[in-house]
Amino acid sequence: MRHFLTTLDYSRAEIEALLADARRLKSGPAAPTLAGKSIALLFFNPSLRTRTSFELGMHQLGGKAIVLEPGKGAWPIEFDDGAIMDGEPEEHVREVAQVLSRYVDAIAVRAFPKFKRWEEDREDKVINAFARYATVPVINMETITHPCQELALALTLQEKLGGTDGKKMLVTWTYHPRPLNTAVANSALIIAAKMGMDVTLLCPSEAYTLDPRYMSAAAEMTAAQGRTLTISHDIDEAYAGADIVYAKSWGALPFFGRWEEERPLREASRHFMVDAEKMAKTPGALFSHCLPVRRNVKVTDEVLDSPRAIHVDEAENRIHVQKALMDALLRGRLG
Ligand code: CP
Repeated sequence: MRHFLTTLDYSRAEIEALLADARRLKSGPAAPTLAGKSIALLFFNPSLRTRTSFELGMHQLGGKAIVLEPGKGAWPIEFDDGAIMDGEPEEHVREVAQVLSRYVDAIAVRAFPKFKRWEEDREDKVINAFARYATVPVINMETITHPCQELALALTLQEKLGGTDGKKMLVTWTYHPRPLNTAVANSALIIAAKMGMDVTLLCPSEAYTLDPRYMSAAAEMTAAQGRTLTISHDIDEAYAGADIVYAKSWGALPFFGRWEEERPLREASRHFMVDAEKMAKTPGALFSHCLPVRRNVKVTDEVLDSPRAIHVDEAENRIHVQKALMDALLRGRLG
């Protein structure tokens, strides 16, 4: 049995096979290959796309999805081993994961970082506990990476660029009034590297570079395929030559838990918003974003409404890649 916690656990060939399945599923009505199967979707954080695409995807394959929101309609859960549970949590993840495993064929989890201490958040305690105690496959619906978004991005790039090898991906930090999760930035970096792209990470300063785990993985994967990973703080230089501009905002890791100290850096970097002037520095690059997106804060209307924008295509592809993923995991085709 295999979990789907991060694409770092999967080879490029395995990812390509999932993408081929997704293309097949996208091309016509799905057969009810998961009839009689079920999945529990545990949301510790809000969602529009992930919840809709997983629920509907499972329905289209003939199975059943059950949404649970711990602490809101389902009991709050304890994750610390040995905890004296005299606080809010009513049950421990050991029981939750084992009991759900008796009911359903897979468990999917969305659990964002707590944004207090990165050293703690980077351990990804919630999903790793489910993976440890569940006896069915566990799927990451976004924790400190967002591997399902990665699959959707990869499929969209294959469709729109005619392939990914040797194409240039710019992952740019963009302004948001609040510090956000680094998950999608980590994910964009590693999937672009895995898919044979030249990758540039553009961010306001060294403080906004990503966790070394993902920087190193991207560096190794690009080098292994004769590609490059570049870190840039220069907008003009970074946009030049890009085939795809991928925007995301995130909080600076050294400032976790000290966000008031980060605020001046963030406010001084509002000019990273993606606009037509920056896009004009590229040779006609595509634009995408994982969504949700704040218009005219992260990206201008002009860019989002242009024919180069593929963010809605990427969002649509969530359902196709997740159907491929659930079908492969629940029918034991991923080992
Ligand atoms: N991109 C994404 O995961 O969207 P939701 O947060 O709406 O699920």
